[in-house]
Amino acid sequence: MSSIDAALLDRLRHAAAEAALHAYAPYSKFFVGAALLFDDGSIVTGCNVENVSYGLTSCAERNALFRAISERGSDRRIVAFAVANRSGAACPPCGACRQVISEFGPEALVISICDSARRLETDIPALLPGAFAQRDLGGKAPSGRRR
Ligand code: THU
Repeated sequence: MSSIDAALLDRLRHAAAEAALHAYAPYSKFFVGAALLFDDGSIVTGCNVENVSYGLTSCAERNALFRAISERGSDRRIVAFAVANRSGAACPPCGACRQVISEFGPEALVISICDSARRLETDIPALLPGAFAQRDLGGKAPSGRRR
């Protein structure tokens, strides 16, 4: 599935696990870190940030992705995403995060790890078949500069 260098994927997983240490999850106690790998080899991380309102909680994956675009612009593709949580079971990104990841990484590899040896390895096409994409906008294709 992946032709990405093993050492780079190892760094990506470690970055996600480190990011989970910053998670703010006092309500669910489900601490998540995410790390994305761009096609230029750079890595950007994020963690989940909960809120007392519950509904305003923001997932680690989207926080990493929005941070990445904010800091680096939108001309890079995401080739891999690592998601780490500090429970005993690895979890894939939620549906909303899958859609957001697919915007910048429609083919991205997705690796989920946790505090046990359990690991999931899949990709965005498998996690989100039939994703809503730019082609579905029909005549209303985006005209703005990506960067
Ligand atoms: N969460 C993530 O950050 N990423 C996921 O992939 C699944 C869920 C967060 C949201 C919430 O803070 C907590 O995990 C429990 O759902």
